Amino acid sequence: MRKTVLTLSIVGVSLSILASCAEQFGRSEEMPTRSDGAAFFVQNCSACHGNDGQGNGPEAGSLASQPINLTTLSATNNGEFPAARALSYIYGDPENGHLARVMPQFGGAMADDLVPVEIDGVLTPTPRELAGLLVYLESIQQ
Ligand code: HEC
Repeated sequence: MRKTVLTLSIVGVSLSILASCAEQFGRSEEMPTRSDGAAFFVQNCSACHGNDGQGNGPEAGSLASQPINLTTLSATNNGEFPAARALSYIYGDPENGHLARVMPQFGGAMADDLVPVEIDGVLTPTPRELAGLLVYLESIQQ
């Protein structure tokens, strides 16, 4: 009887550990899609880069430097989408990163949900939002 209780409580503890792992990693099983990326883009990038990514958002005129046309990233990189460069430019060094101005809205939450993305042939843990964003950015290349 005692043994059964002990076994049951061990099973109970393992189940609750499993449950909390699933909670933490559960969402990561589904990769973000182009439409996730598009939604993120509209919320965080369109103001400057424009809804079509061509650099003519409503804020563009009031900036010291002109937002670049994001639909020609591949064209200006020998036809290959520069995922690593775009990612490090966007996320990069939190102090100087491009997203530094946008970042406080997500804060550390972004780093809690990482998905594997192949960047330059290496599977790299990437914040889910940015993984979706990369899919979207690649899809709008001309
Ligand atoms: C406040 C305006 C603003 C916002 C918001 C903004 N950008 Fe930019 N972006 C710029 C400007 C201006 C440049 C031109 C280079 C510079 O001055 O930093 C640029 C350059 C870039 C580049 C060029 C990298 C390269 O290789 O030259 C990429 C990629 C980029 N932005 C992606 C994004 C994405 C994705 C978002 C949304 C998550 C975003 N930007 C949000 C203004 C903005």
